[in-house]
Amino acid sequence: MHQRFSVFFAIFLPLLAIAQRVRCLAAAETAQTGDGVVKDAHAWGFSGGMLSVPRSSMAATSVGHLALFAGGRLHNGSYSDVVDIYNRTANAWSTAHLSIGRSSIGAGSLAGRYALFAGGLDDSFKPMTRVDVFDSETGEWSTLELGTPRGSPRIVDLGPAAAIVGGLSGDLQYLSKAIDYVSADLQIANATLDVDYPQLGLAIADAASGVGLFAAGYENDRPGDRFNDFQQSNQTTVFSIATQPGAEPAVGASRGQPFPYPRWGAAGAAANGVFAVGGGHLFGDASSQAQTTVVDRVDIFSSRTGHWSSSPLKLSTPRDYPLVQAVGDFIVFLGGTDQSKDFDILDTRSGAFVAGLGHRPALYTLRTDAAAATVDNCLLIVAGGLVYQGRNATASVEMFDACK
Ligand SMILES: *[C@@H]1O[C@H](CO)[C@@H](O)[C@H](O)[C@H]1NC(C)=O
Ligand SMILES: *[C@@H]1O[C@H](CO)[C@@H](O)[C@H](O)[C@H]1NC(C)=O
Ligand SMILES: *[C@@H]1O[C@H](CO)[C@@H](O)[C@H](O)[C@H]1NC(C)=O
Ligand SMILES: *[C@@H]1O[C@H](CO)[C@@H](O)[C@H](O)[C@H]1NC(C)=O
Ligand SMILES: *[C@@H]1O[C@H](CO)[C@@H](O)[C@H](O)[C@H]1NC(C)=O
Repeated sequence: MHQRFSVFFAIFLPLLAIAQRVRCLAAAETAQTGDGVVKDAHAWGFSGGMLSVPRSSMAATSVGHLALFAGGRLHNGSYSDVVDIYNRTANAWSTAHLSIGRSSIGAGSLAGRYALFAGGLDDSFKPMTRVDVFDSETGEWSTLELGTPRGSPRIVDLGPAAAIVGGLSGDLQYLSKAIDYVSADLQIANATLDVDYPQLGLAIADAASGVGLFAAGYENDRPGDRFNDFQQSNQTTVFSIATQPGAEPAVGASRGQPFPYPRWGAAGAAANGVFAVGGGHLFGDASSQAQTTVVDRVDIFSSRTGHWSSSPLKLSTPRDYPLVQAVGDFIVFLGGTDQSKDFDILDTRSGAFVAGLGHRPALYTLRTDAAAATVDNCLLIVAGGLVYQGRNATASVEMFDACK
């Protein structure tokens, strides 16, 4: 026990020092963004919209005053290269195209300026190296290439740098340990994730505090084995960024405390240095009837302590593959395959779910495989997905406006 602790602190002390340093900055920033959000969730505005093409499984991110919904699957199963872009300043939609249509794209932002659409699978399920980069300041698109091709890589936005982590590589049985770091001047450099088992985890970042997590998800049950099975993963990697005057920002990655309740299909987001992971499912053990249990559990990681805590927090309903978004000081859980229209809204200042929401806010259209992005930390957009029990792709967009 004692030894475990020392190892833990040896890993975390440098990280905590960084976290302390950036916290004052972060506190100032969060106070501002927090002030930009209507605190009473009942008072959030609602409006609708339409994508240019109905589709599901899009890659979504936001940057500047924009939300971008890229690629995805059309009703006939083909992959799209369309990017629908919502500009909050203009309150208008426009469209653009990825350099290649594909599925399983990793999406994220970088340096408050660039939207990244990384990797993906072509229509013969071959992983790709392409990264499409959108510059929200100039409106221009450019491309980068990953060091190794992969589908569904995760993007950790650390502020002045982003990490494009892991993904599906080679054949679909195999998970990648590759990391590509992208700097604010769009230089790309590759590295390897320090984990025992290749893992496809969740990426959650708090760009304001320069801390990110790659954790949970699933992993190969035998490292190095090419054709293998997967198991749910407890591996946690903590990314952090150190900025010193006159020096390039330094990105660090270290092993973190294991994820407390490994499961499939959970999702998360971060606000105020609070990282919340909720929902997901468990498989019944071999001795009992094979069955899947969807969970309402929420696990919290604090970038301040570097610990996971098994919180007593519960979602109002079990949710598998929920959409999770940070909106000001709130972390919003919605949707999921166990269809609910209601939102669960966690207030990171009190550490409790907002009570008495009733059905407001709530989704108007039940959907799975939808995408979500939050513009300016206050306008939550849910777009596309499958409707009518997964039979049809929809173009419908729902916008929840919490902006002051
Ligand atoms: C699917 O639909 C799109 C757009 O309507 C079309 O361009 C594409 O060729 C179709 N794909 C197949 C396999 O039919
Ligand atoms: C967003 O809209 C504003 C106001 O019309 C415009 O000035 C700005 O250039 C737009 N941004 C992009 C990236 O199109
Ligand atoms: C880094 O990228 C090069 C190609 O640019 C590739 O040969 C190498 O395998 C990559 N390394 C890792 C760890 O992904
Ligand atoms: C994490 O998972 C590994 C591999 O399944 C297991 O051996 C280990 O005991 C787990 N650690 C904790 C703390 O649960
Ligand atoms: C589902 O999509 C197909 C093809 O676009 C369309 O013909 C059909 O009417 C849609 N079904 C519903 C219930 O909207």
